[in-house]
Amino acid sequence: MKSDQFSSRLGVVLAAAGGAVGLGNIWKFPYMLGQNGGGAFLLVYVLCVVLFGMPLMMMEFMIGKRSGKSVFGAFSALSGSHRWDWLPCLTFLSTVIITGFYCVVTGWCLEYLYFSVVGELQGLTVETVGQLFGSFIQTGWQPLVCSGIAVVLSVSILWAGVGPGIERLSKILMPMLLILLLILIVRVTMLEGAFRGVAFLFASDLSKITSQTILDALGQCFYSLSIAMGALITYGAYMPKNQNVASTTMQIVVLDTLVALLAGCAIFPAVFAFGFSPTEGPKLVFSVLPLVFGQMAGGQVMAIIFFALLSIAAITSAVSLIEMQTAFVLDASVAWRARRAKRNSEASPRTLTRQGAIVVASLATLSVSVVCACSMVDNIDWLRIGGITLFDWADRITSNYTLPLIALFMVIFFGWFVSKETIEAEMRLYHGLKPWFTTLFRFLLRWFIPVIIVLIFLNGIGLFSL
Ligand code: PFF
Repeated sequence: MKSDQFSSRLGVVLAAAGGAVGLGNIWKFPYMLGQNGGGAFLLVYVLCVVLFGMPLMMMEFMIGKRSGKSVFGAFSALSGSHRWDWLPCLTFLSTVIITGFYCVVTGWCLEYLYFSVVGELQGLTVETVGQLFGSFIQTGWQPLVCSGIAVVLSVSILWAGVGPGIERLSKILMPMLLILLLILIVRVTMLEGAFRGVAFLFASDLSKITSQTILDALGQCFYSLSIAMGALITYGAYMPKNQNVASTTMQIVVLDTLVALLAGCAIFPAVFAFGFSPTEGPKLVFSVLPLVFGQMAGGQVMAIIFFALLSIAAITSAVSLIEMQTAFVLDASVAWRARRAKRNSEASPRTLTRQGAIVVASLATLSVSVVCACSMVDNIDWLRIGGITLFDWADRITSNYTLPLIALFMVIFFGWFVSKETIEAEMRLYHGLKPWFTTLFRFLLRWFIPVIIVLIFLNGIGLFSL
């Protein structure tokens, strides 16, 4: 892996926040909230962010920073044995599925960018906006081509090695996305009936909290903060040694949650004003926003800018997800060949090149994308299980199962198998941190988080009732 470090502390915050802010905040958070009863979900989500998201993000940064390795080598470096090698493999598999369906939704953003450029989003009504999305998905080939373009674009950025340049560019573009969200919020609150949307977002009806709400909020928290995907471990490895992981985590978490909230504020007033159901699911943002742009002065230009920024945010995220896989494949191939050479007493073993690793990672992503995109076409029944598309399954399996499970194993690893001294040595670097903070951090990692994740998980799959 690269040995370069981030040149400034702000650089780490911006890079990690840039990776964290993506489709999870603007596309997924609003529809998850809509499907889970609004304010009740928001409350549980914020609790999950504080109790799980923050300590887990800190932990992953520390794993990367203390080991100086990407996800593949970090666990063996910290524990001094290969007993944990299966955990990075599980993380890799889960990340391949996430990247696959992430590229499908990135493809949707690209298509909507195209729609806005050619004026297809102009003059839509509540009926026709739904038809536009439906007929796009049902062609089958269009979402397939768009996902393909998303994968190819992301891979070419990686291949050309211009990732850091794009990342820098996105740091200028992200504030623009925030400003656009603010403009949208002002516009949607002027719509008639918008108040019901604000009430839906902020009024917490606790009776709406079910075991599924808690499992969904936990999964969404992991997804949005990029937890249990190995990305944060890699960022940690790039950090300067004197970086304060606690305050970096705080800044990223606040920014990420703020963007999700702003997206909610821009979407729900419009959902209610136009009479949509908040439970529309993944197509929610693509149904509501074109109508809002249609009602704004200069709406077409706004729509172009918005979908362009959203596509860039999505592509930069896809790039870092594929980069993670590439680093994994490369490190795994080096380790595997070295072990084989040792066993067979060979001299210098040949290993995969970086280009070879990119090809492996992109083929894995592309296969998942093709399956996910095709599964949404009505007449391809065999890509559904129990009437649910493989696209939805990919989302559900990762958010509800693999991410919480990987987080659970990581926390057991760090809480129980990494020495107390390692954690204390790291904490000593942060001047002004009170000793009780380290005690609380270790308690959360050793007891609170593992026990609660197991309970939420068993409850979510119906094996235990809270
Ligand atoms: N957290 C991102 C989102 O909310 O869209 C998804 C993500 C991007 C995860 C990049 C991991 C990553 F490396």
